[in-house]
Amino acid sequence: LRLVVLVSGSGTNLQALLDASRESGYGAEVVAVGADRTGIEGLARAERAGVPTFVERLADHPHRAEWDTALARRIGAWKPDLVVCAGFMKILGPPTIEAFPVVNTHPALLPAFPGAHGVRDALAYGVRVTGCTVMFADAGVDTGPIIAQETVPVYDGDDEQLLHERIKAVERVLLVETIGRMAREGWSVSGRRVRLGG
Ligand code: GRF
Repeated sequence: LRLVVLVSGSGTNLQALLDASRESGYGAEVVAVGADRTGIEGLARAERAGVPTFVERLADHPHRAEWDTALARRIGAWKPDLVVCAGFMKILGPPTIEAFPVVNTHPALLPAFPGAHGVRDALAYGVRVTGCTVMFADAGVDTGPIIAQETVPVYDGDDEQLLHERIKAVERVLLVETIGRMAREGWSVSGRRVRLGG
């Protein structure tokens, strides 16, 4: 399965996919890594792995629609079977969402705590259990059909960074396992229900 992975930050989820894709039999390969900004560790990780990268900055386009179109074109050039957002901090527009299946990962148990501050919001709410979600991206923010979830405990004294690191340790495993199963077994979606396996 040909993956294009989109990143905006440290790229630890990307790194997990890069490492897994080197195992024969994993079934998926990262053919390119895209970002919305330069100078991030995620791009450095791709370069160290010898994976081609591209950057499409919103600021380089007169309007968001042109950025959406340009990004979809850059992604399409790699002929992906699946696009994976791994800490990508932009909402993908119709040109990308309508052209490719897109999988996203979120550090909370959706539908709880969607958006850019899911870890902070869960901590502030006082939940005792949070987690991470792998889901399809649709036109909304973190609203697509859920593919996999895993729980993560919240401990007294947790701050946002400590909790997010604990979540990320689980999240990267969930993402690698889920993408691997999708590559080897395929998937089907009916309504909001996702089934892995042919
Ligand atoms: C991940 O927890 C992702 O779900 C969230 O931000 C984090 C990105 O981490 N959107 P990394 O860039 O993969 O290290």
